[in-house]
Amino acid sequence: MTDNSFNPAVDEWYYPDEKYRENANAPDYDKIYAQAAKDIEAFWGERAKSLDWFAPWERVLDRSNAPFFKWFVGGKINIAYNALDRHVKTWRRNKVALIWEGEPGEKESLTYWRLHQEVNKFANVLRSMGVKKGDRITIYMGRIPEIIIAMLSCAKVGAVHSVIYGGFSEQAIADRIEDANSRLLITCDGAWLRGQVVPLKETVDKAISKSPIVETVIVVKRTGQPVSMEQGRDYWYHDLMGLPIASPRFESVEMDAEDPLFILYTSGTTGKPKGILHTHGGYAVFTSTTLSWVFDLKDDDRWWCAADPGWITGHSYIVYAPLILGATSFMYEGAPNFPYPNRWWKMVEDHGISVLYTAPTAIRGLMRFGEAWPNRHDLSSLRLLGSVGEPINPEAWRWYFRVVGKEHAPIMDTWWQTETGGFMITPLPHVALKPGSATRPFPGIEIDIVDEEGNSVPPGTDGNLVIKQPWPGMLRTIYGDADRFVRQYWSQYAKQGWYLTGDSARRDKDGYVWIIGRNDDVIKVSGYRLGTAEVESGLVSHPAVAEAAAVGVPDEVRGNVIYAYCILKAGYQPSEALVNELKDHIRQQIGPIAVPTKLELVTSLPKTRSGKIMRRVIRARAMGMPEGDTTTLEE
Ligand code: PRX
Repeated sequence: MTDNSFNPAVDEWYYPDEKYRENANAPDYDKIYAQAAKDIEAFWGERAKSLDWFAPWERVLDRSNAPFFKWFVGGKINIAYNALDRHVKTWRRNKVALIWEGEPGEKESLTYWRLHQEVNKFANVLRSMGVKKGDRITIYMGRIPEIIIAMLSCAKVGAVHSVIYGGFSEQAIADRIEDANSRLLITCDGAWLRGQVVPLKETVDKAISKSPIVETVIVVKRTGQPVSMEQGRDYWYHDLMGLPIASPRFESVEMDAEDPLFILYTSGTTGKPKGILHTHGGYAVFTSTTLSWVFDLKDDDRWWCAADPGWITGHSYIVYAPLILGATSFMYEGAPNFPYPNRWWKMVEDHGISVLYTAPTAIRGLMRFGEAWPNRHDLSSLRLLGSVGEPINPEAWRWYFRVVGKEHAPIMDTWWQTETGGFMITPLPHVALKPGSATRPFPGIEIDIVDEEGNSVPPGTDGNLVIKQPWPGMLRTIYGDADRFVRQYWSQYAKQGWYLTGDSARRDKDGYVWIIGRNDDVIKVSGYRLGTAEVESGLVSHPAVAEAAAVGVPDEVRGNVIYAYCILKAGYQPSEALVNELKDHIRQQIGPIAVPTKLELVTSLPKTRSGKIMRRVIRARAMGMPEGDTTTLEE
């Protein structure tokens, strides 16, 4: 059945100015897509030539042990060398790599040369502390330049970083430290957010008391509030960087293209987060190609990816790809509406940002304050805009296009995942747009929308979004759990060898892709990915809770919010105080992003006869919608 009522924008076209085709980094879409599809190895092999390799690869793609694909087999590379060292040998040495603004208003800029020196110094510090190739290093910091320095230093010494978003709390940190078996942790005293200090070091101390495998903590001084420093375990970053051992010269360790670069934990359908593993070679090729073609970065651009380095968007498009391309990036520490709702627009004007990449939830949040705020500023430097993290509703798209982009900056709606490493379905700047559609797959990416058996579904019909060919930026495994990797992504369409994204989508009559959302128990809250199972296991870890169910419910600004329902253990009485205590418990355990908007204490939950909680029914009830088929309902 063709049903275009899902989205009113399927016939709404926006045609970018011809100037986006002329002089673009990306070739013509149709031509390059067809060419890449014919021979993906030739296509990616050609792209890989734009990087500096210590030794060339023997084979672009090895499919012999699928789904454990290998890219650029035999090639030797270091992604940090490509991000820094190769530029300092050219005129880019004195080009600004990073402009940073703190929430209280400090500004700093680092040239490629300075960044290169800082990274080398810290790489020497890490090595002097015994860090070796393959060691896992945990990073838990705010949005300050040192997080980028820390990540790149790990890459230089061949260590594997595991960055934990600063919004996570002690239990989430402890679990990740343990899963990665990480003995060194880099953090900062605190971070500024909405005029307040977020006490990161204090949270680290609590996490380590639960997970004592951490032997060394390096602390960057950011906010200056007093923190406790444990002798023999905790060191100030600035003390270490002042030691003679912190020489500004360091030879990047030669890595195999397939050697791990980082682990990034993300939510799945079970309570335990998955450590998504990415590598030096393929990831470098994929992130730099996609950024260059989609956002068309040129040497005079000022790129602002307004994500957090603690998420994949930040890893790929704040840290690695822009530096590989030799671009100038901007990074801001704090909240978009602090001290006033014009903060972002003021920074666009002050820094002459030319390309802005953010999330629908941020756009909707800023939209709420009205257009007077952006209209007070000169935003004429913006030439391209981007969106990521969840479907962008056409209303937000149109506002972004009209008010921010002044109807001339095309919006690149990029669909991708932690697992994919980089953009998968996205426009290129010269591609005609429809508000709310991520348009078509990037060259070299083959996708389909299929039913449970793997048959392509007709236009206008929902199906499972699958990826049919490997790509260089793909995750290589789930750290320490190869079985889960195979089960999660490759088992449903094992016969065909396709990757299951977990998203449902549909194509319209023009072949444009519309992402509907997750079709598993993963929800997107303000663009953050959370598993309902994580929230549930967080709740049942409280002594009063016997059973819990969490669901995502649509929200105008945040995309989704969490509603949770708990059955109490015998002997506990429901009360307002207990509800607040449970919310607080989640804040402590997982982090503020996981706190349910609504938490109800109930005496029963709808379950199937086999005892499975029927989240679909709970969700329908929460939204006041029909409950659908409840014939298997037990209670
Ligand atoms: O559901 C899709 C949604 O975000 C999920 C991936 O989340 P995460 O791994 O946290 O990565 C987010 C940043 C890449 C996807 O499965 N998603 C991401 N981008 C879009 C999107 N949904 C619709 N449109 C997008 N542009």
